[in-house]
Amino acid sequence: AQKQKLKGKKAIVTAGPTYEAIDPVRFIGNHSTGKMGYAIAEALAQYGAEVVLVSGPTALMPPKHPNIELFKVTSAREMLEVCMDAFHEADIAVLAAAVADYRPKEVAVQKIKKQSDSMQIELVKNPDIAATLGQHKKPYQFMVGFALETENEKANALQKLKKKNFDFIVLNSLNDEGAGFGHDTNSITILTAEGESYQSGLKSKKEIAYDIVEHICRQMQKQAL
Ligand code: C5P
Repeated sequence: AQKQKLKGKKAIVTAGPTYEAIDPVRFIGNHSTGKMGYAIAEALAQYGAEVVLVSGPTALMPPKHPNIELFKVTSAREMLEVCMDAFHEADIAVLAAAVADYRPKEVAVQKIKKQSDSMQIELVKNPDIAATLGQHKKPYQFMVGFALETENEKANALQKLKKKNFDFIVLNSLNDEGAGFGHDTNSITILTAEGESYQSGLKSKKEIAYDIVEHICRQMQKQAL
């Protein structure tokens, strides 16, 4: 798939989890592997785009494609900073990271000691990277978000699409065995604001990534971008 449909375009992709520090040795994180985001970065690069990949902590090898520039970050706030810098120049943004919604209000300077039988950590809301970029989005910029819902999947995903100003949203199916977090395969539904939808069926994350990028091309062409 050496198509160059996105030659001359700049893209930004977020991937992986974020880690939110509790103290020097502990953090709040999640099970995102970053595979979906890395595969999308790879597919965009194969299509000729210049890609900034903003990745939380993952065990993945850095992508080898010369069109991909990797920025490794740890927390949501770091991810936002790198994204805001790169977004000005971007034509496409794909927000595939599993960003922690909350972070500890205070980070202890020393390792927290074991004390009473229970303890509490106060959390505060993290910035929403997708929504922040969505607020700054220019008419020529194309944005894709993800949603993982456990109920009222489509309605919730569409609400998210509108709220965060996405051009389309990729809904991860939780009902399919082998889909989503930690797997090499995924099963998705793409929803546009106009109510169009596409279902991928269960495929490798690499194939899904090409599906998504193909949809980006098609939709951008429709919107004359
Ligand atoms: O609201 P929710 O977390 O379900 O939205 C998911 C979408 O928003 C994903 O595209 C995710 O990458 C993005 N997101 C983000 N920053 C956050 C939370 C979610 O960019 N703090």
